[in-house]
Amino acid sequence: MGFQLDRRVYEPAEDSQLLCATLEKAVAHFPELRGCVLELGTGSGIVALTLASLGATVTATDLNPYAVALARSNAQEQDLTIEFLQGDLFKPIGGRKFDAIVCNPPYLPPSDDYDDRWLALAVEGGPSGIEFTQRLLINAPRNLHPEGGVWLVISSLAGDLPAGWERKRFDTQNFEGENLCVERLSRSTINI
Ligand SMILES: C[S@@+](CC[C@H](N)C(=O)[O-])C[C@H]1O[C@@H](n2cnc3c(N)ncnc32)[C@H](O)[C@@H]1O
Repeated sequence: MGFQLDRRVYEPAEDSQLLCATLEKAVAHFPELRGCVLELGTGSGIVALTLASLGATVTATDLNPYAVALARSNAQEQDLTIEFLQGDLFKPIGGRKFDAIVCNPPYLPPSDDYDDRWLALAVEGGPSGIEFTQRLLINAPRNLHPEGGVWLVISSLAGDLPAGWERKRFDTQNFEGENLCVERLSRSTINI
């Protein structure tokens, strides 16, 4: 059957591919990506499947129930064991701690472009776009081991992130005037 899509679920795009490619390269230097990894907003599951293929023990969440069902089916199809949970950001995982947190967040402000609420949820990050990512970073320390990293897709269209994080930038690509990059945000320094 191969990798399935669903019209109510975010279809993997350049940002998803950039994140997967960066994780595949970074895993040699960051063993946390082979540890217990949480993916927030899994969509079709493409990033969770990539992480599991790299050897991580993956838990993945999404608020969209159709995304959770689709990602679960895509993982089964590839014989990958991944825990999928439906719910808002960290809520479904309680107090569990992870070695890394990975997310390709929604980051655009609201628009009239999407008449499907689930597709709007996949791209709109709050009143000014950045609120989803801010909420993620404010809450991440509770569910992240102190040495762990938050791996985020960051767009030049997104607003400011909360202070207090050390940021390491990985691959950057330009898509139709928008710069996309992947960053690892941490509370501590790791030298490679
Ligand atoms: C840009 S898509 C990324 C999908 C997939 N990870 C990828 O890279 O192709 C963002 C995802 O976040 C999910 N999402 C949006 N708000 C959420 C929330 N509050 N809690 C959990 N997931 C959320 C959306 O349903 C969507 O699947």
